[in-house]
Amino acid sequence: MAEESIYGPYRPELEKIQKELLDDINSLREEIKAKNGMDPVEHCLSRIKDEDSMREKCVRKGLPVTTESALTKIYDAVGIRVVCAFVDDIYKFRDHLIALPGAEVVEEKDYIKHAKPNGYRSYHMILRMHGKFYAEIQLRTISQDTWAALEHHIRYKHDISKSNEELIASELKRCADELASTDLSMQTIRDMIFEENKRTDGSESK
Ligand code: GTP
Ligand code: MG
Repeated sequence: MAEESIYGPYRPELEKIQKELLDDINSLREEIKAKNGMDPVEHCLSRIKDEDSMREKCVRKGLPVTTESALTKIYDAVGIRVVCAFVDDIYKFRDHLIALPGAEVVEEKDYIKHAKPNGYRSYHMILRMHGKFYAEIQLRTISQDTWAALEHHIRYKHDISKSNEELIASELKRCADELASTDLSMQTIRDMIFEENKRTDGSESK
């Protein structure tokens, strides 16, 4: 007989929350697209944490491997990652999500304003939905996402020699900081284009 799910009978409820959050994200996405003529989201991923990683996380955190732990002690059974083109849009999604009826903010970590020492940047939030289940939402720019993917890859590559480890870490950190500075420049360029468009739309064409 198949092993019982760590989520017990609650998987459909987790999927409902996932859908509710994705719908909210999509509604703002459409709104911004209609207003600016540009899709603010480069891509959006979502998942219910798979059984094995959930069990492994319970063990890692010293929790009993139970449905109760998975749903009430671990907050990322539902996970959503929104990858935006521009930093500004991240905060728009954040504001929209916290205003969603039934969503209660449990935790917010602004690793964009306060990058992790290794250079990791993203906006993390944990929401509790309808007083019940939790979801983790990660909001990041394309550059931040690219960096995180590479860093993750390197972290799980165990055949990096000790002597190289420090150099790799400091180079990665430097890349993260350079990307952050490029993100700000890109944001400034976009703002200039929007300003210009507003002016030319408002005046008569020559
Ligand atoms: P958890 O117990 O896993 O919730 O740890 P935490 O609350 O200390 O984690 P945090 O909110 O900082 O990060 C959770 C998730 O963000 C991770 O599972 C990763 O997906 C991502 N993340 C955080 N830090 C890093 C990092 O340094 N590099 C990469 N690539 N991803 C990170
Ligand atoms: Mg966490």
